[in-house]
Amino acid sequence: MRTHLCGEVNEQLADQAVQLCGWVDRRRDLGGLIFISLRDHAGIVQAVVEPDSPAFKDAEALRNEYCVRISGLVRMRPESQWNESMATGKVEVLAETVELLNASAPMPLLMTDEDGEEIRLKYRYLDLRRPRMQHNLRTRAKMYRAIRDSLDSKGFTEFETPMLTKATPEGARDYLVPSRVHAGHYFALPQSPQLFKQLLMMSGMDRYYQIARCFRDEDLRADRQPEFTQLDIEMAFVEESDVQDLAETMIREVFRDTLGVELPQPFPRLSWHQALDRYGSDKPDLRIPMELATVDEHVAHVEFRVFSGPANDEGSRVAALRVPGGAGISRKQIDEYTEYVGRYGARGLAWIKVNDADAGLEGLQSPIAKFLDEKAWQGIAGATGAQSGDILFFGAGEWLTVSTFMGELLVRAGRDRGLVQEGWQPLWVNEFPMFEWDEEARRHFAMHHPFTAPLKDDPEALLANASTALSKGYDMVLNGAEIGGGSIRIHDPGMQQAVFKLLGIGEEEAQLKFGFLLDALKYGCPPHGGIAFGLDRIAALMSGEESIRDVIAFPKTTTAQCLLTSAPSKIPDEQVAELHIRNISKDS
Ligand code: AMO
Ligand code: AMP
Repeated sequence: MRTHLCGEVNEQLADQAVQLCGWVDRRRDLGGLIFISLRDHAGIVQAVVEPDSPAFKDAEALRNEYCVRISGLVRMRPESQWNESMATGKVEVLAETVELLNASAPMPLLMTDEDGEEIRLKYRYLDLRRPRMQHNLRTRAKMYRAIRDSLDSKGFTEFETPMLTKATPEGARDYLVPSRVHAGHYFALPQSPQLFKQLLMMSGMDRYYQIARCFRDEDLRADRQPEFTQLDIEMAFVEESDVQDLAETMIREVFRDTLGVELPQPFPRLSWHQALDRYGSDKPDLRIPMELATVDEHVAHVEFRVFSGPANDEGSRVAALRVPGGAGISRKQIDEYTEYVGRYGARGLAWIKVNDADAGLEGLQSPIAKFLDEKAWQGIAGATGAQSGDILFFGAGEWLTVSTFMGELLVRAGRDRGLVQEGWQPLWVNEFPMFEWDEEARRHFAMHHPFTAPLKDDPEALLANASTALSKGYDMVLNGAEIGGGSIRIHDPGMQQAVFKLLGIGEEEAQLKFGFLLDALKYGCPPHGGIAFGLDRIAALMSGEESIRDVIAFPKTTTAQCLLTSAPSKIPDEQVAELHIRNISKDS
């Protein structure tokens, strides 16, 4: 139907006849001439219809988003009318025929960034016509090709694993599918292909990858969807550094091939403990040039109990954040920050404005200066590098709580003050704790998942020191987003049993849920490990989008609904009965 794409028409085609298909982006009538901006996925070109053209009547009838075919002659625009910002901006198409392929009802949305998300998702097929969305989805496809090229060249084999399967715990609720054939039995949709990829290592497949859809029924946010896509990788006969080196090389190649971007080499590596100590986060945004300082030793002797208490306590800390040039921050803003860190468990937020760094305590403005002495201040000034015109914020209390709320403050203040630098800042975070303690449930949860190997290969030691045990787990972080996570796996049945025990999974339950894994571990399982990347998150970063919904063709809302198809939806009673289940909700 067409000879060229709209976006391809340029000066090289001058004086040639072309046939183009697309949508009317805009139609303007000017002094008897009709200008049509014709759009397809490749771009927009201007067609012009002269009053004496046989196409004039057809052109007059066009409205926005009508689908048309235009044939005509490419001609140069007068130089004064060149539009350098458009690839097609030096030419126009003198239309000879304008053929209506299909009219359009008036648009239910503006097709600009002004449209609200609800309407965009309801009419997603129209929203996707926009150049921004076209670009995002094509960038994503380019990334997929780069991933496959990279891994295929490194001896990996692409596999598929079941969607109808048994629950794999990754920390979220399962999406369940009732079995019609087996009354009272359910499949779970995979939260990840974790156990299948491990089994493939036991099968000697050696290097596995899969671009896998995963399903998690959890609280949704901008960076989480109930179904999302992982690049899932597993390797046999490897240690942490083997997986990390491979993953880093691959990600570097993928950014180069997709965006033409060179990522730093090598990525910095921090332990989880260091990351929290220095940035107050296990996914630090290294584009923000600020760090937390630990000032325990400088305030251990002061009378101010808020500081000296935690400074002298093993599991606590006093952390300081220097915000360069922040002395001008208003009281109102400080109150806002205090309220903000309160959401992350802070009981207060002490601060010092450094009016004159050379004047000792005299040069400070702060509600807590009166509790400090010259020695304490000199120590703090040294540890933070405080200079005149800065503000220092302090958090004191339990180590993880303080680190976390000060880390949140670091990011918030960094953004508010425009300190976030351009570019790409990846890093590895290693040596995560094996478990986190849930005070409410009064039990341990796996920090990564229950198949992650502990750093020390000794089940007895693990059972004795579970709360301090570290793991062979790692995350890849990019610009403050966790884009991938993985670990070396347990390949010894005894160790796997020990971890299940610590997670409160008794022998019987372990056999019931993971019997197949425990069995498989008995038959010469090789040491193995891997990683999974969140491809939606990487695609969003690549496209400069805040939300992963903008890089997914048909995403769900934050309440896990598809507004386009109205899923989930009710089903007829007979169909429910066939599945051996019954609706108990009143409005069903
Ligand atoms: P994990 O649970 O860390 O690891 O997931 C890996 C990566 O997937 C992305 N991700 C998500 N993206 C969008 N929406 C979600 N709801 C969502 N949840 C996770 C994140 C994350 O880093 N089986 C292990 C991997 C392994 O050990 O090899 C796993 O699934 O970017
Ligand atoms: P208070 O003695 O409780 O009035 O606190 C004096 C100052 O210390 C106030 O500016 C509080 O915001 C601050 N503060 C109180 N508790 C903490 C804490 N845990 N961490 C940091 N600052 C705190």
